[in-house]
Amino acid sequence: MTTTYDYLIIGSGIAGLYAAILARKHGSVLVLTKGSIDDCNTRWAQGGIAASVGPGDSPEKHLRDTIEAGAGLVDEEAARVLTAEASDRIGDLVSLGVPFDTVHGEVALATEGAHSTPRILHAGGDSTGAHIELTLASVARLEGITVLEHTIATEIVTKPASPLAREVGEGLGVRAIRALDTASGERTTYDCRALILATGGAGQMYLTTTNAEVATGDGIAIAYRAGAEIMDMEFVQFHPTALHLPGVQPFLISEAVRGEGGLLRDANGERFMAAYDERAELAPRDIVARAIRERMLATDSDHVLLDVTHLDPGLVTARFPQIYRFCADNGLDITRVPIPIAPAAHYTMGGVRTNTWGETSVAGLYAAGECACTGVHGANRLASNSLLETVVFACRVIQRTIDSPNGRAEPTPDAGSLRPVPSDAPGAGDVPPLTREALQSLMWRDVGIVRGRDSLTRAASVLAAWQSTPAAPTDRPSQELADLLTCSRLVTEAALAREESRGAHYRDDFPEPREDWRRHLVFRRKEAA
Ligand code: FAD
Ligand code: SIN
Repeated sequence: MTTTYDYLIIGSGIAGLYAAILARKHGSVLVLTKGSIDDCNTRWAQGGIAASVGPGDSPEKHLRDTIEAGAGLVDEEAARVLTAEASDRIGDLVSLGVPFDTVHGEVALATEGAHSTPRILHAGGDSTGAHIELTLASVARLEGITVLEHTIATEIVTKPASPLAREVGEGLGVRAIRALDTASGERTTYDCRALILATGGAGQMYLTTTNAEVATGDGIAIAYRAGAEIMDMEFVQFHPTALHLPGVQPFLISEAVRGEGGLLRDANGERFMAAYDERAELAPRDIVARAIRERMLATDSDHVLLDVTHLDPGLVTARFPQIYRFCADNGLDITRVPIPIAPAAHYTMGGVRTNTWGETSVAGLYAAGECACTGVHGANRLASNSLLETVVFACRVIQRTIDSPNGRAEPTPDAGSLRPVPSDAPGAGDVPPLTREALQSLMWRDVGIVRGRDSLTRAASVLAAWQSTPAAPTDRPSQELADLLTCSRLVTEAALAREESRGAHYRDDFPEPREDWRRHLVFRRKEAA
């Protein structure tokens, strides 16, 4: 069966649904999503969405904070677009019905790490993502947008450039996407004019993660296989504060908790952040996550404590109802006892490389949201800039498909390729069988918050060995595992190549940033070109 649409959008988080709502005015739209409509990271977003809408704030100040957090790798043009278009996109979300919290009739603005002023809009206290997802899903339903649930995109079908087109520098173009109906097992090819990947991040590469089960990097992996450029994969953000209770999933404890005055203490009850950064608890995430890891090692503990017991209990329960309830359901009254926390993989800074219009290096293929790499986050994302990025660039993708269809980003001349499986990769007998858990454990241990040549080399060789015995994916779990493997190889090879420390990428054998590494690493599968 083949079906044709103007817009094919893969993913039903904020990026996919917002793009679909905008695209609906300009042509036929189909959204494919591999789980239920609200199976995504978006619905779990807590802290909020950043925008310079408060008194005394400005896009310029927001831009400066974004650049400062990004540790020398932020693409200034893209970040300028992000911060300049923020308030218009917030206006759109409000018009669509997102109920942002207010105080005395004005929008309520919170503080988060490395923001120089309060600028985080939130909804339902700490349930921002749930409100956004619910609102967009109901608008999509009202607009009659077709969302095919339980349908996983598996492969991009490209059309090779003609010899003449190659001569004038034109490369691959998108024709269609192949997808699998996970209930019936039926495979379908959907033709399209514009293919928009909105498939989210790859946090499931790691054993300890705040991410939803669906965050398996599929869009990044299928784009790589189709010949698109993938950038900045070595920069994985570890959130400093995820709940750490035996047998309980690592539930996020929002950065906004520290914004309201929450304090970090080690297992002995001592505060420690001031020794690491003058901004203490509100330093950028990479600094706080590494400091926590170091204190855990120093105190021989698997967690530190996030203490809000000195705050007004009424404020804690009103401002963080979701966190309060989740902890209470697990036997922890956070107004009375400090919260045991530890860092967890949280956000994929890298992804499918795009320009400021969401165009990738493959004509007709666009990417928006966490699966894309616009360059706005550089080496370390500023808190609450992610939800903002999704809407700013999803909107620009749709504008572009109208004004200048079938475009593509200028390719990167010196893009590398994943190395072929090295001949010295361990044989199948020397590595454990490939399972999601084995991969997650390897990545957590060897490619985690702190990496080094030895751990990265070991991981690269196990991942390569797994890659050398490919089995064609037959269902959603095996497809996701194949995609996680591709993303993990991209992260590990990029981390091995980058011989410095910068932002979220910390190498114990190269602990300082190096000026000659103030550049991006881009991968493109050469055989696809
Ligand atoms: P997602 O919301 O993850 O949606 C991806 C969609 O793609 C899903 O529907 C998924 O099922 C679908 N999909 C994936 N692969 C396929 C496939 N092969 N075929 C079909 N469908 C597919 N950011 C902020 O700015 N502020 C916050 O307060 C904040 N809090 C967060 C809290 C948590 C716990 C987490 C995990 C993240 C948080 N983030 C926050 C990050 C932010 O939520 C995400 O970056 C953002 O929601 C990503 O949106 P998205 O639409 O790109 O992806
Ligand atoms: C949080 O609430 O701490 C998450 C915010 C983010 O990831 O930007």
